[in-house]
Amino acid sequence: MNDEYLKCKEAADYIAERCDCSDAIGLILGTGLGEVGDEIEDPVIIDYSDIPHFPTPTVHSHKGKLICGRLFDKKVLCMQGRSHFYEGHDMKTVVRPVRVMKLLGVKAEIMTNAAGGCNTTYHPGTIMFIEDFINFMGDNPLRGPNIDEFGPRFPDMTLAIDREYTQLGKKAAEDLGIDVKSGVYMGFRGPSFETPGEIRFAQTIGADAVGMSFVPEIITARHCGLRTIGISCITNMAAGISGNELTVEEVNETVEKVGEDFKKLIKEIIRRM
Ligand code: HPA
Repeated sequence: MNDEYLKCKEAADYIAERCDCSDAIGLILGTGLGEVGDEIEDPVIIDYSDIPHFPTPTVHSHKGKLICGRLFDKKVLCMQGRSHFYEGHDMKTVVRPVRVMKLLGVKAEIMTNAAGGCNTTYHPGTIMFIEDFINFMGDNPLRGPNIDEFGPRFPDMTLAIDREYTQLGKKAAEDLGIDVKSGVYMGFRGPSFETPGEIRFAQTIGADAVGMSFVPEIITARHCGLRTIGISCITNMAAGISGNELTVEEVNETVEKVGEDFKKLIKEIIRRM
């Protein structure tokens, strides 16, 4: 059997012995957006570092805890933080948690992230539903022998982002009175922020936001048939737009400011899913 499949299976078996995640809603919480995880009821909390083959984040704003429990009587399996390609893992390792969720029987997934806005009508604090993505990371998590147990060699990406759940999410935002946008996410390798020139290029080819995660995960989720929606928190205007230098402090400050709305929205989406 494929070595990567066996690693995912071992990780999934370890988690399944500790909590029942079948039919749960999966949540991957990005930079500074991990607070929803603190509200999960009857939580079983597992450190990523205890799970066999599970990548452990090296970035401070990513806690590295897996929380299994309930929100509004819905089962949730929440990843507080993720690992990124820029940390040095290969793509297979970065996306392993998505495949583990699939093996655990997770029924749908909400992926969140912090991103830079290159659509000039956005501002720091804008919440964007991801409606499409551009892979500019120079790699693909499905490269190499196909793992047939997960999905086909050439998976479609037209419908990678689940339309029905995205619609449900936008309606939830509208009912809560939270203004949201829809846009295209372009994934860069990082860890350096983009240059102003790269951002002009991104704008030209139709990107509304740029970031360093999401893309490998959504490709993998589509490959294994995991229904997924993506939500970006625009934490800063992308390089060259405001003229200011970009800092991680700005990213973290914005996330903190919109945190409450973001949390409300995620919870309402889970309630309706
Ligand atoms: N670029 C890439 N990733 C990011 C940004 C950005 O401007 N802001 C938050 N994550």
